[in-house]
Amino acid sequence: MQNQGQGIAPVRVKDLLSAAAPLGRVLVRGWVRTVRDHKDFAFVEVNDGSCLKNLQVVADAPSAAYDTAAALSTGAAVEVAGDMVASPGKGQDWELRAETVVLVGACPENYPLQKKRHSDEFLRSIAHLRPRTNKYGALFRIRSAMAMAIHQFLGERGFLWVHTPIITSSDCEGAGELFEVRAGSRGEDFFGKPAYLTVSGQLAVEMFCLSLGNVYTFGPAFRAEDSNTSRHAAEFWMVEPEIAFGDLAQDMDLAEALVRHLAETVLTDLAEDLSVFTRFVDKTLEATLATVAREPFARISYTEAVDILSRAMAKFQFPVEWGRDLQSEHERFLTEVHFKKPVIVHDWPLSIKPFYMRVNDDEKTVAAMDVLVPRVGEIVGGSQREERLGVLLSRMESLGMNPEDYGWYVDSRRFGSVPHAGFGLGFERLLMLVTGVTNIRDVVPYPRTPGSIEF
Ligand code: 4AD
Ligand code: MG
Repeated sequence: MQNQGQGIAPVRVKDLLSAAAPLGRVLVRGWVRTVRDHKDFAFVEVNDGSCLKNLQVVADAPSAAYDTAAALSTGAAVEVAGDMVASPGKGQDWELRAETVVLVGACPENYPLQKKRHSDEFLRSIAHLRPRTNKYGALFRIRSAMAMAIHQFLGERGFLWVHTPIITSSDCEGAGELFEVRAGSRGEDFFGKPAYLTVSGQLAVEMFCLSLGNVYTFGPAFRAEDSNTSRHAAEFWMVEPEIAFGDLAQDMDLAEALVRHLAETVLTDLAEDLSVFTRFVDKTLEATLATVAREPFARISYTEAVDILSRAMAKFQFPVEWGRDLQSEHERFLTEVHFKKPVIVHDWPLSIKPFYMRVNDDEKTVAAMDVLVPRVGEIVGGSQREERLGVLLSRMESLGMNPEDYGWYVDSRRFGSVPHAGFGLGFERLLMLVTGVTNIRDVVPYPRTPGSIEF
């Protein structure tokens, strides 16, 4: 590409604006947010996606730089070279005094992102352009930083990252929400048996836990849940750590530490991007995140949760009864109304949980836990795994599963089985928590939900 900067490396706006002193002569590339032509000079606000703030570019007349700058339009891509100088104007410490302005890509007037606030619904219909807005730019920078923070948190604690397959032949959760994978005209022949998109990397990562020790998988999961809710996506990301020689208590400790660390990271390291959500999405966001980050989570058994809910004065749409799953309204009551902070609900009825969860001594409950958080409800689901071969086989049998279909999984309970435990943290649910965004469609670059796969 043409480079008017004559050999100077391009600098990101974030680095320019956070530098302790102006960096002298620089080259910046980005997209025009606004242009103001004052005849003697032109102001151009340039955003390069690296941070919330725009860089103010000033081009003095008469000059070629001014002629190009004054003719720019919102959305155009530009390359500007010049000196960073102290800004006499309000609103920014420094500005870029342009020597050269190059129009890299013009943008016509029908650009949908004119300078005004657009609704989330409208922006969803232009998902390919919404990262150019302040709100979605901030959101996807937070998304990136949260993913990095998860890897760092687990890496520092000695967890190894395992890349579990996306195409699988087993249904981990047993909920029948699988998307089938077919190879064009070859249909099911390709793999020799039916294949699906994974609903969870858990079964695969467990095997690595029983070889490498503490591990995790972090990637996409797919569920054909027909519920068109604001908390479910057909394609979402999950981080699934698995603790070797671990039990449910350690599992809850790790989940709590991870969620609290991520809330703290947003508050301390991502304050500028977070401010968009505090201002425009939820005024109480920072207070909520401070509670999540700095107060221990409540911990109650499922039986206690049912007790609290049965005694609650609140009117629920769905019945509360021991043995039934908790609905979103119940989760939110516990965390928003009753405890006013995150709650871990542990030891769930065996009858509503998958085959791999460890059966408790009462034989009515399993060593499972869900982490519930304000506004989102369930953000984490996990359990201690059934490590006893005999118990596992009889659980599979009573659920009508064929242990031969899971021969490799069952093998792990034959060859040096050990207690282990893990969980899945829904990455989009985490992003909803830390940004206050209430619709999962707005924390995914290109959301996939029933009836919707535009991009
Ligand atoms: O509770 P779930 O179904 O647990 C599992 O999949 C286990 N195999 C995890 C494990 O133990 N390794 O899902 C875990 C989390 C949920 O708590 C929720 O946050 C998220 O994944 N999740 C979804 N997020 C968005 N859209 C969906 N359709 C989701 N389904 C689950
Ligand atoms: Mg769950």
